[in-house]
Amino acid sequence: MAILIKNGRVITADSDSICDILTEGETIAAIGRNLPAPADAQVIDATGKLVLPGGIDPHVHLDMPFMGTFSSDTHETGTRAALHGGTTTVIDFVLQKQGHSLREALTEWQGRATGTAVGDYSFHMAVTDFNPGTREEIKDMVAEGITSFKTFMAYKGALMIDDAQMVGLMQEVRKHGGLVTAHATNGDLIDTLIAQHRAAGQLTPRYHYLSQPEVTEAEASGRFADIANYTGVNAYIVHLTCEGALNQVRRATERNQRVFVETCIQYLLLDASLYGEDFEGAKWVMSPPLREPKDQATLWAGINQGLVQVVGTDHCPFRWEQKQMGRDDFSKIPNGHPAIEHRMELLFSEGVMKGRISPQRFVEVTSTNAAKIFGMFPRKGTISIGADADLVLIDPKKKHTISAATHHMNVDYSAYEGHELTGKITTVLLRGQVAVDAGETKVGRGYGQFIKRGKVSF
Ligand code: URP
Ligand code: ZN
Ligand code: ZN
Repeated sequence: MAILIKNGRVITADSDSICDILTEGETIAAIGRNLPAPADAQVIDATGKLVLPGGIDPHVHLDMPFMGTFSSDTHETGTRAALHGGTTTVIDFVLQKQGHSLREALTEWQGRATGTAVGDYSFHMAVTDFNPGTREEIKDMVAEGITSFKTFMAYKGALMIDDAQMVGLMQEVRKHGGLVTAHATNGDLIDTLIAQHRAAGQLTPRYHYLSQPEVTEAEASGRFADIANYTGVNAYIVHLTCEGALNQVRRATERNQRVFVETCIQYLLLDASLYGEDFEGAKWVMSPPLREPKDQATLWAGINQGLVQVVGTDHCPFRWEQKQMGRDDFSKIPNGHPAIEHRMELLFSEGVMKGRISPQRFVEVTSTNAAKIFGMFPRKGTISIGADADLVLIDPKKKHTISAATHHMNVDYSAYEGHELTGKITTVLLRGQVAVDAGETKVGRGYGQFIKRGKVSF
């Protein structure tokens, strides 16, 4: 099976030219001008369109047990929705259960994802209980192609590890050439503020936001960077939201330390004014919460300064009915919101079309940098001969409006209802197959493959 994409404006992290791309089987076979079409090739005319590497979202939670329920997108529905939005590969989080092994958790997640995912996926391993047994398992996970280890510095009693465990994990992961990532917020401080608000009868979603002020994230980001610097491990902060936290990363660069930073699309585009006095704000109850316009400005600048390398989603959807678990107490609202489908179009419209970032920067933060940091480059994250033929065609002028009525995520509200965007993804290829075309899914349940990952190559 061959596909010839003709006359598109092909953009990678380091090139921008009008040319053709020929795919053969699952990979890219040729790139050039006026490529002849093989007899059996399907020809796609990309005149007037941009052709980009398939998106990589390294922060999604699919079918994840959390706060007494499960995130509502399965590996099937979540990766299908991702494909509609140009994200061809996602990295999902396996959660170790405290008192249990990493292997048990991996087996559980494999049971949910294998044979069901529509798009490609990989796993991070979230270490929630670092002990001598866990230490022994780190090398086994690396051998499985799981080279990134997530830590939670919050959610005490469920997911949080303390600094002693953090040091031990970092030392072990460093030995095996892996990467440690962190949900970097101060869990004890947050829990204290939550308790104070509840004691005062302050129970609406807005108090979720007020329980996680900037200092909770800045402190933990600095501490994480310091411990990583001491141990020498590759370090990555997930869903960084604010100026105070980014300043801690800036401080780390002054001692020549590199801490990778991911922000998420919602922190660039939405702000805390969405937390009003009623329950509606539950739609955006996530951790960390939405921040202030000054933080958005810092994050956009951070992208252009190269301090923020990745824009993910932290996709962790809950249906409105699930959000009701916290109707009378914000601390019981399942944390998370839906975003997997619209990350690329939102960032394209608000970033590229509004002149905040260049098309190349867009490719870097939506695809290439994640591929390099998480050990998938150059198989994923670029357009080059031999790479997987994961390609996204965007019509840069086409306008459309986001709505829960038309999205593919398994959730009955949209965090961006009514947002009007410029730039529509028209066609998506995954490993040489047309996966989405004109709004229709062309590949089925089970087409998605688990991607074994290697070491950081950034
Ligand atoms: O609110 C969030 N972020 N939910 C998912 C779990 C996490 O902290 O990433
Ligand atoms: Zn988190
Ligand atoms: Zn998350």
